[in-house]
Amino acid sequence: MERLHDYLRDKRAEVERRLAERLCPQVGLPTSLLEAMRYSLLAPGKRLRPILVIMAAEACGWTDRQEAGLTGDPWPAACAVEMIHAYSLIHDDLPAMDDDDMRRGQPTCHKKFGEALAILAGDALLTMAFQVLAEGYPPHTAAACCRELARAAGAAGMVGGQVDDLAWEQGGKPSLDELEQLHLRKTGALIRASLRLGALAAYAPRLHPPPAQLLECLDGYGRCLGLAFQIIDDLLDVEGDATQTGKRVGKDAARGKLTYPGLLGVTESRHRAERFGREAGEYLKPLGAAAELLLALVPFVLERDR
Ligand code: IPE
Ligand code: IPE
Ligand code: MG
Ligand code: MG
Ligand code: MG
Repeated sequence: MERLHDYLRDKRAEVERRLAERLCPQVGLPTSLLEAMRYSLLAPGKRLRPILVIMAAEACGWTDRQEAGLTGDPWPAACAVEMIHAYSLIHDDLPAMDDDDMRRGQPTCHKKFGEALAILAGDALLTMAFQVLAEGYPPHTAAACCRELARAAGAAGMVGGQVDDLAWEQGGKPSLDELEQLHLRKTGALIRASLRLGALAAYAPRLHPPPAQLLECLDGYGRCLGLAFQIIDDLLDVEGDATQTGKRVGKDAARGKLTYPGLLGVTESRHRAERFGREAGEYLKPLGAAAELLLALVPFVLERDR
């Protein structure tokens, strides 16, 4: 656990350094837009998704001791998923969506820059993610990564999940299965994609794609981890502390959101998160020691307070 703590600290710093490098002035990029993009992207987040990209690449044999610029480099994919994530948070907080005023311990993007610029900063981050992939890999891997990320973030993935999340606010009697399908898309899809992108990036220099069995293990792990992650997010909204989470709490029930604690209560929700955590670990067994860090991440996700 000590090792994981140091690892997360180092990787978080590295993600932030690389993200900051990518958001620099360029001809045609308005200063106000760059400022809004940097404000949200570089605000203190946990960087879970980019770290999953890196961990998955490591589970596939990549190490950061290789020279930079090699095609197996997972960093472009790691930056791309965090850009998508940051865009999704900016839009999620808008008045037309969750109408939140705090994010990552600071005013939300639209509170600081106005709605129009916040929407456009989100659009720009979304678009930039695909540029980073296209420029970061040889054509075959770039195409595979773009496809993976587009499917996860798009209409039948995260965006679709967000549409249903808002639709359920209007009422209805959801089943547990419907709730799970919602979480799998709005949060789970990007978490799964992060792991698959790590494998695609790590295999870029090889002549064959990642073996199907390896992808299945990472995918099963990501599916369970994603569900556990969103259950804990929902629980933090009920039981958490705004100074820790960096966002307001108690908002899901107030808006009539479809959540695990709303449907099952706090205790049963925690049990389900723990069960998904155990299942996530089961999926890693065939990977053995290579997946040690991914395994150690499970309790970190379950016990998080932010
Ligand atoms: C928040 O994600 C939105 C969800 C999908 C639950 P995170 O909890 O990963 O937020 P940051 O990146 O650490 O701010
Ligand atoms: C957001 O879920 C999922 C996204 C795709 C951004 P939430 O609406 O629960 O995330 P928070 O609680 O605002 O971070
Ligand atoms: Mg939301
Ligand atoms: Mg929200
Ligand atoms: Mg939430």
